[in-house]
Amino acid sequence: MNRRSFLVWANGVLGGIVGLVVAVPLLGPLLDPVLRKQGSGERPRVDVGPVDQFKPGTVTQTMLVTSKMDGPIKMPPRPDLGVFVIRDTAKTITVDAEGRSPNLKVLSRECPHLGCNVDYDKANGFLCPCHNSRFATEFEKAGTKQEIRAGATNPSPRRLDSLDARIEDGRLVIEVVHFRPGRPQAEPRA
Ligand code: FES
Repeated sequence: MNRRSFLVWANGVLGGIVGLVVAVPLLGPLLDPVLRKQGSGERPRVDVGPVDQFKPGTVTQTMLVTSKMDGPIKMPPRPDLGVFVIRDTAKTITVDAEGRSPNLKVLSRECPHLGCNVDYDKANGFLCPCHNSRFATEFEKAGTKQEIRAGATNPSPRRLDSLDARIEDGRLVIEVVHFRPGRPQAEPRA
C-alpha cells in the first residue's frame, strides 16, 4: 500500500468510527424497547392512586393498566394484570425508607394453578372459579395438609403470588409481574 492509498484507507476508517459514535445515541430511542427487554429486565410499574383509598381491614380488587411497546411504537394502554390490595386493620400506614409498608400486601389475581383470575368475597374468601383453588387471608393455600397433598380440593401448587408495592408521595405504585402457573415456586415469566 503506497502513502496515498494508505491515507485514503485511513480516512475511510476514521469516517466510519465518527459515524458510529454519532449514530448510536440517535438510534438509542428506537432500540430502547429491545435493549430494555433483553438487558435490564426492567418491569412496568403502575400508579394505582392515593394509598389512603385503601381502608383498614379491606380487600380491594383492581386492574393494573400498562402501555406496551410494539417495536418503537407505544401501544394504547390496556388492562394487564388483576391484583388484590389487602390492608390490615391498623389505623395508620407506616412506610420504611424504601417506600414499603407492613400494613399493605399486593397479590396477583392470576391463579398459580392454570392462570384464571381468582375472585374474592367475604363469604368465600379467595377462590378460583376454574378448579376451586382456595387461598386463605394469611396468603397461604386454604385446606388441610392432606387435601393439599392429594391435590383433590385445591390444585394450586403454591400460594397467591406477592407483588412489589411501594408508596411514593402518598400514592401506591405496583410492579407488574406475571408468574408461571403450575410450578411449586414463584417464577416470573420472561
Ligand atoms: S386455574 Fe385456578 S384452580 Fe385451576
